[in-house]
Amino acid sequence: MTKDIAAAASMRLPNAVPAGASAPLRTLPPILTVVVPTYNERQNLRELVNRLHVALDGVNWEMVFVDDDSPDGTSALAKSLSRRDSRIRCLRRVGRRGLSGACIEGILSSAAPYVAVIDGDLQHDETLLPKMLTELREDRCEIVVGSRFVEGGAADAGFNATRQVISKLGRRFAQAVLRTAVKDTMSGFFMLRREVVEDAAPQLCPEGFKILADILASSPETTRVKELGYEFRQRHAGVSKFDAKVALDFLGLIVSKLTRGVVPVSFVSFLLVGGVGVVLHLAALKVALLAGLTFFAAQTLATLVAMACNFVVNNLTTYRNARLRGWAWLRGLAMFCGICSLSALANIGVATWLFEHDQTWWAAGLAGIVMGATWNYAVSARLVWRK
Ligand code: GDD
Ligand code: MN
Repeated sequence: MTKDIAAAASMRLPNAVPAGASAPLRTLPPILTVVVPTYNERQNLRELVNRLHVALDGVNWEMVFVDDDSPDGTSALAKSLSRRDSRIRCLRRVGRRGLSGACIEGILSSAAPYVAVIDGDLQHDETLLPKMLTELREDRCEIVVGSRFVEGGAADAGFNATRQVISKLGRRFAQAVLRTAVKDTMSGFFMLRREVVEDAAPQLCPEGFKILADILASSPETTRVKELGYEFRQRHAGVSKFDAKVALDFLGLIVSKLTRGVVPVSFVSFLLVGGVGVVLHLAALKVALLAGLTFFAAQTLATLVAMACNFVVNNLTTYRNARLRGWAWLRGLAMFCGICSLSALANIGVATWLFEHDQTWWAAGLAGIVMGATWNYAVSARLVWRK
């Protein structure tokens, strides 16, 4: 009997039933928890469950869907599957979004010795799971990564050309910064001894997409990692959740890890979004002043440039869950500019008054920006993106 089976058997709570009471119906506790983060994956659930039953035949496993309150009703379906199959659980998280956070909570909800994370869209090859489990059970490592970039692995089918390039850049970056020899640091498919995450949990960042990179960065250097190749498939149904916010959060993760957690992940995207607006505003102001416009006209133009830029960036990042597209995008832009124009009146008024008193163009410009930003945020969140 291997160590883990002995451990699982000893968890059978032999003394938990008081004398005289009838023994509850108990089976061996699971040896493996498969965590599946989901956001709008309703159409993929049944197929995934069926495939896990086949792939993990003979293993005492359970699965946890961690769903961020998907509008398509993923959690309702997961719970109805769970009523018919005691191996299935579903954790519904409300008011939160994030792949990493979902994985962390799913893993921490487990009491099994081994935990796997696999995407809900069938891009990862579930038939690799038994081999991963064997590596861990035979104590050859603490983390097994399903890898697209070692022998037997392939990445071509799963991503389009643009995403391949982004993925490659991110991988190089992560390898250098996180100083790891792991080839597929960006993999969302892995299995580990549960203690690895129990120990690293306080250091892990729940924001973001790249939970494996974070686990690798937050674990002791002595942690043994093994990669097993698999072919990354095309998504079964639905669409990818990768977007600009995910990419920004990844930069944030790297900075956060480099500074040992002193700089929080969201600070980087905050700085970038705000910073881009401020830089564009000041640049437009300078150009307009050079072109001979009055300060009043230049600040007006700069404010309009910053406004449009702010709308575009916020629509892609901050409000990605309520992202406007097509006509709604145009309507939103118009409404956003309307709201911002009201605050711009105050902005331009304050800035011009300050400039007339002091002549420091950038200080006057900045004061106007601060005035306007507060109103813009409060009103546009309610009216444009209806939050
Ligand atoms: N709970 C929750 N919350 N789940 C999420 C969220 C979220 O905010 N965002 C995405 N997911 C779920 C999806 O429903 C899916 O099951 C899984 O996480 C992966 O999301 P995809 O949208 O399919 O990502 P991808 O295919 O572009 O990238 C995936 O595969 C890559 C290769 O392994 C991710 O796992 C990447 O991290 C990975 O590099
Ligand atoms: Mn996917």
